[in-house]
Amino acid sequence: LARGVTAPDLAGRHVVVSAGGTREPLDPVRYLGNRSSGKQGYALAKAAAARGARVTLIEANTGLPDPAGVDLVRVGTAVQLREAVVKAAADADAVVMAAAVADFRPAAYASGKIKKTDDGGAPTIELVRNPDILAEISADRALPGQVVVGFAAETDDVLANGRVKLRRKGCDLLVVNEVGERKTFGSEENEAVVLAADGTETPVPYGPKEALAETVWDLVVPRLRGASG
Ligand code: CTP
Ligand code: CA
Repeated sequence: LARGVTAPDLAGRHVVVSAGGTREPLDPVRYLGNRSSGKQGYALAKAAAARGARVTLIEANTGLPDPAGVDLVRVGTAVQLREAVVKAAADADAVVMAAAVADFRPAAYASGKIKKTDDGGAPTIELVRNPDILAEISADRALPGQVVVGFAAETDDVLANGRVKLRRKGCDLLVVNEVGERKTFGSEENEAVVLAADGTETPVPYGPKEALAETVWDLVVPRLRGASG
């Protein structure tokens, strides 16, 4: 069956996709954030729905229009994202962590706006580590055979860093892309290599995020529990 007329190869499956970027509040008007647009995660969610899956899309701060046919959960921070992912993963056949999760959050939240002082000084902001959601769900699979997919944007030694990260996270697939001017953040296009825990590496040529999304599901499907191969 040719792609285009989409094969319903995710029918009967529940998949969870996280998208966007977490924001970690500092005070009522400020946060620590990142440049993730959420477009890749939305493309993954839409592609999975078109392939017949029940999709839970957990979005953080994307501002993108709600896609039809998916269950949408909105979160703000990494801690909220973790809670939503763990909950949705309980009966999921696959979990794809496309969201950019802040590695750190401010140790303290100031309930009033942080103000400048007259001495010309600047505050020091203490940070604490956020939970590593991908490592956690990879280590504690909610169901045997659940497929877990991570994403990694790297600026240097992209493949070498990706291979180390795949092992460190313990996921089944890691989509590695190089952060560049036209690529990744906010753009419509992406170029990547999908690294698998079994050692296979699948290059995905520069192209629309929708094409990368289809390739990710093409690689997930044969790894699903009970898949015919
Ligand atoms: N991730 C996560 N929880 C975190 C950080 C990252 O679940 N606290 C997930 C992301 O959603 C992504 C993958 O881990 O799927 C890789 O994110 P990345 O930032 O590249 O990995 P880190 O382990 O944070 O490594 P680095 O120090 O390079 O940022
Ligand atoms: Ca990180």
